[in-house]
Amino acid sequence: MGRSPGLRYGDTAVFFHWIIAFLIIGLLAVGKFMTQLEENDPLRFELTQWHKSFGISVLVLSVLRIFWRITHKPPPELDTIPAWQQKIANTTHWLLYGLMFALPVSGWIMVSASPLNIDTILFGLVDWPHLPLHGVDDKESLSAAFHEYHEWASTALILLLLAHIGAALKHHFIDKDTVLRRMLPELSSKRFWGKLALLITLVAASSIVLPWVMHDGHKLVAGDSEVSFIADVTGEETLGIFTETSVTAEIEKSNLPGSSIVARVQTASVVSDNDQVAGSLPDADWFDVESYPEAMFQSTAIEFVSDGEVSVTGDLTLKATTQSITFPMTLAEEDEVIVARGEFAVDRREYDIGMQSQDNDDFVGFNVIIKFRFDTKRAAE
Ligand code: HEM
Repeated sequence: MGRSPGLRYGDTAVFFHWIIAFLIIGLLAVGKFMTQLEENDPLRFELTQWHKSFGISVLVLSVLRIFWRITHKPPPELDTIPAWQQKIANTTHWLLYGLMFALPVSGWIMVSASPLNIDTILFGLVDWPHLPLHGVDDKESLSAAFHEYHEWASTALILLLLAHIGAALKHHFIDKDTVLRRMLPELSSKRFWGKLALLITLVAASSIVLPWVMHDGHKLVAGDSEVSFIADVTGEETLGIFTETSVTAEIEKSNLPGSSIVARVQTASVVSDNDQVAGSLPDADWFDVESYPEAMFQSTAIEFVSDGEVSVTGDLTLKATTQSITFPMTLAEEDEVIVARGEFAVDRREYDIGMQSQDNDDFVGFNVIIKFRFDTKRAAE
């Protein structure tokens, strides 16, 4: 068994202590903050993904730390401290170790059983598996129970941490002993700075190398697409379809800010079930396919609404006009393909469509519903 050198903790034990301490304090603060936000607030979604990544990092570091603790004896206890205080300190330390595991494990079970079924992709890079939980019938209740447990355990951890920090400060400032100092990094030692530099280099190198080597099977890329519209023509719903469309999309649930959708529609491909209007749709007054052969939508922001639904904002260009629009888009799994669907209304007056021949809505309504769907597949690994 290794032994920490001298009367202080070894550098590795000190690293583990402070890295995990900072991560846990951050997780407690962010955890309490994010759960105060509205359920559908995109910031809550974003913070929860970071929270899961840092939380799992604590779990991995805690496993390594426990292994280190078992194989490396801590420095001997100070004989100036009474036995009863030692006992309380030891109990607190083992309770802290327990919660260091209980919190991330309960979080892991909570998200594994959650009906929202949102993937856990550590820092957007490493696919962290969810627990299988095959035999569990009522996953929703299990998730809710562990949510409560996670909350309860986090409050217990806050109280224990306050006691732990209070005791360390008392030793340092009132008893003036070495209890806190022996766990502080040895800032005057070259060896300490050498190890820290090595650790920072390893973390920086892996953050550069990992994105290159990781396969991302969670990115959805677009396949076949359809764009249609419904307009009110003399009180009847009239359907138009663009038969030539293409969508380029990359949608990643865990990285919605980095996701994007670009849809292109060849305006000359327009057909309609209403023969009366079909012939004039390509004309200059309507889609003006000669001057504007392409209509386009380009997303500027995609935000989480719920599992299976996102809110898309972007620029729609029809003829000479570009306008920002926002609409909900669903993502539903159908026959091994994930189908994206959405619809939004446009006012044809804003895009100068049909304003020469129909500048009122007696014959053709101003509001036109545009509907789209496109298939997505997981990006090839
Ligand atoms: C040491 C590690 C962790 C700490 C200290 C921690 C702490 C917290 C805290 C304080 C909250 C707020 C509880 C409340 O008052 O409602 C919270 C919520 C949450 N935690 Fe953790 N957590 C940790 C690890 C994890 C892990 C590993 C996961 C999942 C992989 C996770 C998933 C969640 C989720 C999903 C919520 C929010 C639930 C909601 O939106 O209502 N946590 N956490």
